[in-house]
Amino acid sequence: MIITIDGPAAAGKGTISAYLSQKYHLAYFDTGMVYRAVGLQMVLTGLNLQNQNAALKIAQNLTFPQMMELSVHPDFRSDIGGQAASIVSAYPTVRAALLNMQKNFALKPTFADGQPAKGVVYDGRDTGTIICPNADLKLFVTASPQIRAERRYKEFLQKGMITSYEKVLADMIARDERDSKRTNAPLKPAEDAVIIDTSDLSIDDVLAYITPLVEAKL
Ligand code: DC
Repeated sequence: MIITIDGPAAAGKGTISAYLSQKYHLAYFDTGMVYRAVGLQMVLTGLNLQNQNAALKIAQNLTFPQMMELSVHPDFRSDIGGQAASIVSAYPTVRAALLNMQKNFALKPTFADGQPAKGVVYDGRDTGTIICPNADLKLFVTASPQIRAERRYKEFLQKGMITSYEKVLADMIARDERDSKRTNAPLKPAEDAVIIDTSDLSIDDVLAYITPLVEAKL
């Protein structure tokens, strides 16, 4: 069973993915992590994010354990990590270098402890279009930039990060623009994706809507 969940930042993909992977005992691959790992590695080593060749070298050498190690860094999930990921993810060569790592996960999905899983929930931007075009169920989850910025701002506050709503909104809009305008794998729903706008929905409403879609595929 392969489920793909694509959409812009802070639309609710992570919460939905975590719920579905737990409920149906599926592995979870947050594909934004591969780009965050490459972007953060560049920031930490003082490389210019505009240096596409340097980003490519890091992408070519990226391994799962390395990505997990970087994921505990405080800037992995911060604005810095998000912006860096968005920049490097726009490089077609970087995307190509990270493609097999993402695709191959579906061939042998595993839980975080290494145990095999019967399927996977992918979370990202192009998982239904490029990574797993044959997925059993494709969801495209979205919400207005203002609502998403509000959610992300609250998350940052809870983590003790200092920022303002205005800055989070501006960054969100900049990232949406970059993610949807890039020529290579732009953010867009797969033709056979179910589109869900979560702007006016509670998480319970969203999960109640999605559950029968998954059950129908089991
Ligand atoms: O989902 P996220 O915020 O962790 O993603 C970080 C960046 O990575 C985002 O700006 C777009 C990019 N990304 C991508 O291009 N393709 C994916 N499948 C996942 C993320």
